[in-house]
This record gives sequence, structure tokens and C-alpha cells, in this order.
Amino acid sequence: MVPCKRCAPFFVFKRIHPPKTLICKGSPAQLQLYYSMDHGGIFYKIESLFFKKCKFCQDLLVKSVIENYLIETGEIMRKIFVAGNWKMNKTIAEAQDLLEAMLPQLAEIDNVEKGVAPVYLAIPSVVEQCRESGVKVGAQNVFWEASGAYTGEVAPAMVAEVCDFVIVGHSERRKYFGETDETVNKRLKAALAAGLEVIVCVGETLEENEAGLTAAVVTRQLTEGLAGITEAQAAKITIAYEPVWAIGTGLAATPEDANRVHKDVIRPLLKQQFGKLTSQQMRIQYGGSITADNAAELFAMSDIDGGLVGGASLKADSFVAIVQAASKVALEKKEL
Ligand code: PGA
Repeated sequence: MVPCKRCAPFFVFKRIHPPKTLICKGSPAQLQLYYSMDHGGIFYKIESLFFKKCKFCQDLLVKSVIENYLIETGEIMRKIFVAGNWKMNKTIAEAQDLLEAMLPQLAEIDNVEKGVAPVYLAIPSVVEQCRESGVKVGAQNVFWEASGAYTGEVAPAMVAEVCDFVIVGHSERRKYFGETDETVNKRLKAALAAGLEVIVCVGETLEENEAGLTAAVVTRQLTEGLAGITEAQAAKITIAYEPVWAIGTGLAATPEDANRVHKDVIRPLLKQQFGKLTSQQMRIQYGGSITADNAAELFAMSDIDGGLVGGASLKADSFVAIVQAASKVALEKKEL
């Protein structure tokens, strides 16, 4: 993408080195390419006196050169995303107290994406409080219909009116409220159409884990859950791998085990569906008994790009410590 003239001054461009030679309709041209990932996409600008090709083939050529360069050089950095899933906890007043205690410290950290997902009723006041803090606000579920006689449900546009993101397919919704891969897919499509970012949760139960079915279960959940989703939509999706046996039990997966599922099962599936570049850009969070003590080790793994935090997000000191750990890891990963 090329930024428009009005926005271009706000982009910091990096130079691709050495200059690339592109061939279009048989004639080679030396191009100095610049790219920027500042604003959520991959933007480029070109400097060449000689490259006078049609807009369409210029775009295609430049896009593929930049994409390959970014993948080869490992320039693609996924910003760590830590989200607190408050579940059915915190009244409005309690939510206000919690945020008051942690927002000043969270607001200081800008190399990690942060979010909280309160109960619906607390969302408006949480949004108000989080303004200017850099903390995103999400809902814990959403219905797929736009409006109508669906007592107790909340429509995507209603969530999008106030929230940045929504969680779908959490294992508690699968277990207690009949959520299936098919309904996850419906919620996901409706939420994306409303402009929301979405965290899609997957993960195997203890029995499935013990039977060696982890890869099969996660593959099914993702294949059916993400059916019909396009590459362009994928940019708004975060996957949360949450083994059910690790949620709320104090028994987190080991960083190596979790990373194996992220790297060997989930990322290849994303690659199959959305292509190499997009799969490298998509974040895969881990969830299940993340604490201030184990967060750094988990986030340091190559394919763990943050966490969905339940219990430890309900206390200011532990959630702040987890985000601080993420921030430290982000700095270290950048230096590698
Ligand atoms: P937990 O919950 O951190 O309390 O294990 C995680 C989740 O369910 O998202």
C-alpha cells in the first residue's frame, strides 16, 4: 500500500538494502524501496527515475519483493498482545478501582498491546476510564444477528459501538453455553463485518490431551472456526491457544509444549489459509494459568505472541507485572 499524501509525513520509512532490481515486461529497473509498518499494514514508497510501469504491475512486483524481504530478514515483528479476560467478575465500582490501580503503570508501556474484557454492563465506564491510556476494551462474547427477538444477546454493531475487540469461542462458552465451531465461525464473521478485532479461542480438554488429540482438535477448531475468512480479514484476528486443562487450574502448559502447538500446528494452518506473510503477522496468544512468575518464559518463545489472562488479570499488581514482563521480552526479542 502507498500512504496518501496527507498521511505520508507521519510514516517512518526504512530502506531496503541493497536496492532491488525488478523486471517488468522484460525490462529491468533498479529501485530503491522503502517500507513502513507503522500503521498496521505494509506501506511502501519507491524512488526511481526509470521505473515507468503500469500501476498494477508495479504494485504487484513491489509487494512481492517487500514481502519476501521482510520474511527473509525476520523484520516482521509481532507486537505482543496481553488481554485480561475478567470473565463474570467485577461490578462497575470494582472495575473502576482495579483500573485506577493499574492504568498509570499500563499507560507507561507502549511496546505491548494491552486489553481488558469486562462484563457487558461495565464496558461503557471502562471505556471512559481507559481513554488515552492505550488500553483496548473488549467484550467476552457477541451474537451474530444484527437485531431482533433474541433475548439476552448483544449484536456486533452494539459491541463495535463501544469496544475495540471481542473474544469468541472461549472454552467456558463451549462447555457451559453450547458454543460450537460453527457458531464460533458465525460470531467471528459478524464481528469482523462490524469492524471489531477478534480473539478466537481454541484448545483441547484434558481427555483429548491425554489421548494425543491436541493437534487434531485444534486443527478442527481452526479449520471450521475460520472457514470462509479472507486474508484481508485475518489481519484483525488473534488466535488464543488455551488448553482447557490449564485454565484456572494453576497448571500452565510448559512454554515448550505451548510453543510447539503454536509453531507446528496453528501457524502452519494459518499459512495454509492466509499465506506466508499474513501467517507471520498474525498473533497467537497463549492462555491458561498465566501468572507474573511464568509470563516472561512463555512470551519469550518464538511463536507465543502474548497472553489471554484470566485470574491474574483481576488484580492490579499481577496484571501490571505480566504486561511489564511482556514489555521486557519485547525489547529482548527486538535485539535478537
Ligand atoms: P486463567 O484463564 O488465566 O484464569 O487460567 C485464562 C482464560 O480463561 O482466558
